[in-house]
Amino acid sequence: MLDFAIPCLLGLEKLVGDEVKKLGLADVRVENGRVLCRGTEADVARLNVNLRCGARVLLVLASFRATDFEALFQGVKAVAWEEWIGREDEFPVAGYSINSTLHSVPACQSIVKKAVVSRLGEKYGMETFPETGKRRQIRFSIMKDEVMIGLDTSGEGLYKRGYRAVGVAAPLRETLAAAMVLLSKYRGRDPFCDPFCGSGTIAIEAALIAKNRAPGLNRSFAAQSWTQLDRRIWLDAADEAMDKEFRGRYEIWGGDIDPAAVEIARHNAALAEVDDTVSFEVADATRFHWGGLYGRVVTNPPYGERLLEQKEAEALYRAFGRAMDKLPDTWRIAVLSSHTEFERCFGRSAVKKRKLYNGMIKCDLFFYGKQ
Ligand SMILES: C[S@@+](CC[C@H](N)C(=O)[O-])C[C@H]1O[C@@H](n2cnc3c(N)ncnc32)[C@H](O)[C@@H]1O
Repeated sequence: MLDFAIPCLLGLEKLVGDEVKKLGLADVRVENGRVLCRGTEADVARLNVNLRCGARVLLVLASFRATDFEALFQGVKAVAWEEWIGREDEFPVAGYSINSTLHSVPACQSIVKKAVVSRLGEKYGMETFPETGKRRQIRFSIMKDEVMIGLDTSGEGLYKRGYRAVGVAAPLRETLAAAMVLLSKYRGRDPFCDPFCGSGTIAIEAALIAKNRAPGLNRSFAAQSWTQLDRRIWLDAADEAMDKEFRGRYEIWGGDIDPAAVEIARHNAALAEVDDTVSFEVADATRFHWGGLYGRVVTNPPYGERLLEQKEAEALYRAFGRAMDKLPDTWRIAVLSSHTEFERCFGRSAVKKRKLYNGMIKCDLFFYGKQ
């Protein structure tokens, strides 16, 4: 059995835990900012291909306690790195430390690197390493003096699905957009609308969720080049995921007042191969209306970070709130905002709130309508 750690944006841990359980992994533990689990070699590929809300998949090679550099060095040196890192491979080290005695990240990074070099040096009889070969990204975390160290199997973060060739000013992480769609309980049935769609991330993630299309099918992963893993696991994971796709008809729409954003959203939808499922239009969110008794609005309006912009954002929330008031109360609405006065501006108290982090920005997802 292999041990995995899946870091994620704060607030998404439970969703990631649910995704991991659904994939059938064992010993799933949800912690702050990450999910731990155990699985097989095949799960390296299955996790990478299928996870919508996780940031990356780490193969954990050791966990131990360290309150001084010597313990860190010895703990890292005890790992059989030679099983994973070849003579020529590049092995950069990245990590973080939270609430721990060893708090200097650069110092820890350099100790970890020295320990790996020392181990590989002894095994390969080499003093220096060219690091001209394949990249094996080492990642460590130290939380309350507990070290976890391993290899990054994903490479680029899992939020990079391969469909965003160009972005707009403030795009949402795809992992967060997918989380918003899942939290809105959208399963592909009713109309789904994002009236502030920007580059289309939320609507595209909704389309992937409606079609049950795995988010990682259009990209590659670092561990695909690892000779230690059977090459077939990647094709098998893709086959398994594609067998589960649905072929229904869905009503998914995104609107934005900026024609350039709408162009980008259309382009991204084509790259994500959901342009037959989502439509984008230039439209003013404050005039939003839609026929039908049931539907969902899941959206991320502009935040307004500077003082003047804040006033504009408040006026926009007010006008948008009035447009939302005209929808039947059977519609479900979820709005992501970091504005502390959002509910007052929008004109109604949310029936439910969920704290989420858009990068480092603390936000709430405000829910309205029947939940
Ligand atoms: C925070 S961005 C949305 C980003 C989007 N979630 C993404 O992932 O790219 C807010 C968007 O609202 C748009 N916007 C501002 N005022 C609007 C209005 N009155 N109606 C529709 N869109 C508007 C902006 O053009 C911008 O693209």
